[in-house]
Amino acid sequence: LVLILDFGSQYTHLITRRIRSLSVFSLCISGTSSLDTITHLKPSVVILSGGPHSVHTPDSPSFPDGFLQWAQANAVPVLGICYGLQLLVQRLGGDVRVGHTQEYGRMDICVHQPSALFGSHKIGKRQVVWMSHGDEAVALPHGFHVVARSDQGAVAAIENPSAMLYGLQYHPEVTHSEEGIETLRRFLFDVCGLEAGWTMEDVMEEEIMVIKDTVGPDEHVICALSGGVDSTVAAALVHKAIGDRLHCVFVDNGLLRYKEKERVMETFQKDLHLPVVCVDAVDQFLSQLKGVTDPETKRKIIGKEFIAIFDEFAHKLEGKLGKKPSYLVQGTLYPDVIESCPPPGSGRTHSHTIKSHHNVGGLPKDMKLKLIEPLKLLFKDEVRQLGRILDVPQAFLKRHPFPGPGLAVRVLGDVTEGNALDILRQVDEIFIQSIKDAGLYDSIWQAFAVFLPVRSVGVQGDQRTHSHVVALRAVTSQDGMTADWYYFEHKFLDDVARKICNGVRGVNRVVQDITSKPPSTIEWE
Ligand code: XMP
Repeated sequence: LVLILDFGSQYTHLITRRIRSLSVFSLCISGTSSLDTITHLKPSVVILSGGPHSVHTPDSPSFPDGFLQWAQANAVPVLGICYGLQLLVQRLGGDVRVGHTQEYGRMDICVHQPSALFGSHKIGKRQVVWMSHGDEAVALPHGFHVVARSDQGAVAAIENPSAMLYGLQYHPEVTHSEEGIETLRRFLFDVCGLEAGWTMEDVMEEEIMVIKDTVGPDEHVICALSGGVDSTVAAALVHKAIGDRLHCVFVDNGLLRYKEKERVMETFQKDLHLPVVCVDAVDQFLSQLKGVTDPETKRKIIGKEFIAIFDEFAHKLEGKLGKKPSYLVQGTLYPDVIESCPPPGSGRTHSHTIKSHHNVGGLPKDMKLKLIEPLKLLFKDEVRQLGRILDVPQAFLKRHPFPGPGLAVRVLGDVTEGNALDILRQVDEIFIQSIKDAGLYDSIWQAFAVFLPVRSVGVQGDQRTHSHVVALRAVTSQDGMTADWYYFEHKFLDDVARKICNGVRGVNRVVQDITSKPPSTIEWE
């Protein structure tokens, strides 16, 4: 295990990902975790992340007392990155000051000495790196020497190989640091002597063992399948571990895409053999949503209805089994559980609060279900990899994200008005199918249509029409937190607009959404 102590850098998760991409298991915990927490994890290597703080600011975060002594005593190498380097220097009696010149962005560095970090043959070698710091180390603790400097003369890399302590002032984890991944590889394999060997097959076997150990032989587990990748992979994994003591429910709330129910149920049943019940709750949802136009109220109604249905499912199951189910499976991912040191003054305590609405929150307390979150140490791309091993069809794994409240946040205003939902389903299907036919689906984070509660005048077949306007939205993104709109060729848009107006009764105008996030959000409501 390579343990990352996080001091709040926006790149910390990237360090974890880069190391995992080298087939070495890596975890990230708060940099201010207790010594007990750190030693309990028995890391082979510890990396101190960067962060937005200055070591001179009162209350700036630091590793616990006794950590470096423990690392030395157990021969655990420590690498400090950016703020992590400055912490090492300061805590070991060196000096960190506000730099003469601050260094942000692209920078050239040059290797000055034979070194463990770069290899002895790299002396005089220049490389482009990504810097982001205001402070710099000006006096090193005993036993350290500078092995690389930036063109501006600032310390770029330090080491004390006999104490197994290393520091990089730049960020090797970002792709702009041209030899960054190579430097990390060298550090982990050549300097620290780790061996690559962490594979998704191992993760699967280990998780299955944990689930088998956790769930007693008479206990039952329930899972709400949304049709998304995370809940599906989580359910497939739990099913592999405990078989049909897993009970899944999929809710048709009337807010699904074109043929969504049929398509996902086919994957659940035919491809994955999951024990799943499909609850038809279309009337229940739509009657509650009738006349509701406020986006937040819509979301709350949908959340509440979903919980009511889930509750009923669990109670029915209890009647059938003669006992309450004990566990609930959730497809929580690693980015949702990582706790990072918040930037100063942000008022933020934990990073995962941002996304709480994505999970099945607020389940009735009397259900007293314990959680199984088998994906909570994985990133999205790793979940897709795991899904492949579990035979989840590739096309399913690559599906664009779809929000929990479904088409309700894509029909602006009252979703029950006229045949808005039907029109939207048809338009969306034409748009998505055209994207697939053009081979663009995988380069787009999310694409969908939006139904606008306005009518415009048109002329179709020599007739004046007064019909609906629909908007097309397609965005690129890494994680949905920020996004840019996707640039389609004009010919593609022309074809899609024509197909929509010719194929969907009630639509005579198509517009494209060309705003990024921010200032917009991806969904319209
Ligand atoms: P926004 O619209 O906030 O969306 O820019 C960011 C990403 O989150 C999805 N999204 C949701 N997913 N429940 C979900 O499971 C929700 O309530 C929800 N709202 C938005 C959205 O589709 C996009 O991928």
